[in-house]
Amino acid sequence: MKFLFINGVNLNMTGTREKSVYGERSLEEINSEISAYFKNDECTFFQSNIEGEICSAIQRGNGYDGVILNAGAFTHYSIAIRDAISSIDTPVIEVHMSNVHAREDFRHTSVLSAVCRGVVLGFGKNSYILAAESFKL
Ligand code: DQA
Repeated sequence: MKFLFINGVNLNMTGTREKSVYGERSLEEINSEISAYFKNDECTFFQSNIEGEICSAIQRGNGYDGVILNAGAFTHYSIAIRDAISSIDTPVIEVHMSNVHAREDFRHTSVLSAVCRGVVLGFGKNSYILAAESFKL
């Protein structure tokens, strides 16, 4: 299968920011572990801190079997990203490494969930793997 993994704002700081929340592995290390897990599949990775670049990456999702999206803080307010998800036929799964429902109230709201196939959160880097694995069920 062909998967597109998209990470949004501040996810490039994974491994150095808030280690107790997001762990010690860098995004590059996490992406390598995902590639190793899905060694018989095609995994493409994209990260940006810029909202419009995330929208453009989602728009490129049409050639894939599934998009796995951790939009970071954009999750909680970006109508532009929500509309980008709605504009493609490929299913998008929203993921979060942390359990956002056990954190601050402003993280309890996602403007993306309603237009995603599903949501996986709270399993660290395995949130990405569980989300992509669901496309094989
Ligand atoms: C996050 C949760 C968001 O609330 C936060 O802004 C992030 C990371 C997660 O993976 O747990 O940057 O999406």
